[in-house]
Order: sequence, then structure tokens, then C-alpha cells
Amino acid sequence: MNDERVALSHNDPESGVPLLELSHASKNYRAHGSWSRLMGGSRDDSSKSGQAGRIALDDVSVSLNSGECLAIIGESGSGKTTLTRIMLGLLAPTTGELRYQGRPAPIDAEAWKQLRRESSMIFQNPYSSLDPRWTVRKSLKEALSLRFGRSLHAPEIEERCVAMLDDVGLDGRVVLDRYPIDLSGGQAQRVAIARAIIDEPEILLADEPMSAVDVTARVQILHTLQEIRDSRNIVRNGERKALSMIFVSHDIGMVQHIADRIVVLKHGRIIEQGTCRNLLGNPQHPYTKELLKAATL
Ligand SMILES: Nc1ncnc2c1ncn2[C@@H]1O[C@H](COP(=O)(O)OP(=O)(O)OP(=O)(O)O)[C@@H](O)[C@H]1O
Ligand SMILES: [Mg+2]
Repeated sequence: MNDERVALSHNDPESGVPLLELSHASKNYRAHGSWSRLMGGSRDDSSKSGQAGRIALDDVSVSLNSGECLAIIGESGSGKTTLTRIMLGLLAPTTGELRYQGRPAPIDAEAWKQLRRESSMIFQNPYSSLDPRWTVRKSLKEALSLRFGRSLHAPEIEERCVAMLDDVGLDGRVVLDRYPIDLSGGQAQRVAIARAIIDEPEILLADEPMSAVDVTARVQILHTLQEIRDSRNIVRNGERKALSMIFVSHDIGMVQHIADRIVVLKHGRIIEQGTCRNLLGNPQHPYTKELLKAATL
């Protein structure tokens, strides 16, 4: 692909359709949903039909534009993880509709499969994203081969792994042969980030990626994610697109350095959302104001 011939699109591709659009989503962890049956059911939907359950999300509508970094903020138990899992098609909402590039997922099975292929995740505990039996090299190579199959040759794979580690601020040649146990929490999280984006996904979900590490490592991880947001592009159908990110945190201070838009969740409902600038500069809801007072970075 000749990169000079492809235009960089920061906002949406065709006709202003959001990359992801979730409408009126609710999640009751004990209810049976039609989507859940379509997806083959999940462990958390296994209780008796009709039995009242915990409402984790209540009529939430949210969208993610191409190239945007969307932050989801709220206290523990407010529904952040539930919301993001539904947004990436990993969990069925009890009611509501998810659209990926304007197509309903999972009703449009191809759109759903593509969404699953195009999204990567990093979590609070980096060691849970990495196989403890595998060296960093093996983890990265596996991610590359899942996407590119045999189309990449060994020297190119090695080169990409080293370059990817350098991009997340690690010395690739040193880290490649290490096992997760030989890495600090901050290093392991940066390896997890490298693994999540080495296969060039369209969407990166970071669910509380800094809460399990110390303050110095937090700052490094934040810088790494900022650089990734600013520099990572993917090429799809001849068009260069910026990576889109969903960043989950209970700390509004963390996200102010990276997010374009912020959604504030409380008890499963969106209580306020807006651009980072407006929401931080002129918060409307008392809860948002409280979160701002408690911000750490
Ligand atoms: N699999 C499940 N089965 C039943 N209830 C669940 C399940 N997962 C989450 N919940 C409940 O749904 C609510 C929202 O949980 P969720 O994990 O989405 O919150 P969160 O904002 O991500 O919290 P945290 O900041 O602690 O990660 C909580 O009350 C939680 O106990
Ligand atoms: Mg969570």
C-alpha cells in the first residue's frame, strides 16, 4: 500500500456514521435477552427466565467516532465494564441496539465478526492479558500471526516485534526473551499494550489500565497511550484511519490528558457527557464535580 496515496480520516469515513453506536442499552444480569440467545448465552445470563436481577445498565446511549478517544468514568460498580463489553459485542444487552459502522451487530453477522476482529483490549491486571508460559516474543508473534497468518516472514515478524516494543517505551531486544513474571507491573502493561495493537486493530479498549501500577508507571503508561492515540493509523480499504480508543477509569484526572469526549456513569446511567474541554471546564452534575475534586493526575 502506498501510504502517500491514502488520506487520513480522523472523523468518520462515510457520511458521518459513528464507528460504534449503542442505543438505549440496558443490562439486567439475571434476565434472559434475545441477543444473549443469539450469541449462545453467557454464564451471567443463566438464572431463571423472568427472575428480577441486578440492573447494571439502564437506558444508555453512547457512540464512538472513528479516531476518537472516548473516556468512560464512574465509581466502582457504576457499569463501566458492562458498557464497554456491550459496545464491543462481547456481552449481550438485555435490551438495546448496537451498530458497528451503521450495521446492526450481531444481527448482521459479518459486521459482528468484523467488530470482534477489529477490537483489542487491555485490562487492569497486565499479567492476565499475557500467558505466563510464553516469552514476550511468543505473545507478540501469536497476535501477529492471528491477523496476518503466513503472509509475514520471520525477519519481518521479529522486526515488527522489536519496533512495537520500542514504540511503547521498552527496549525490544532486552524484553523479547523475558517471561511476564520477569517484568514489573508497568513493563508488563506496556507489553500488553504492544500485544493489543501490534495487529493494528481499529478500536482499543483500555479498562482501568493504570490502576494496578504505581504512580511512576501510571505516567509512563499514560504517555504511551497518548503517543499511540496520536500516531497509530491503520489502513483499511485504501483509507488510512486513526485508531479509536475507549478509555475506562474511575479517575477523571487520568482521562483529561487523553480523552476527546467523556461519559460519566453512575448506577448504570449516564448522568453527563460532553467534550473533555466542556465537561472539565463547566461540569453540570454534582457527581461530576465530586469526581473532579477527587482527581489525582
Ligand atoms: N457477571 C455478572 N453477574 C452479575 N452481576 C454483575 C456481573 N458483572 C457485573 N455485575 C454487577 O453489575 C454492576 C456493574 O458492574 P461493572 O463491572 O460493569 O462495573 P464497573 O464500573 O466496571 O466497576 P469496577 O470499577 O469495579 O470495575 C455491579 O453492581 C456488578 O456487581
Ligand atoms: Mg470494571
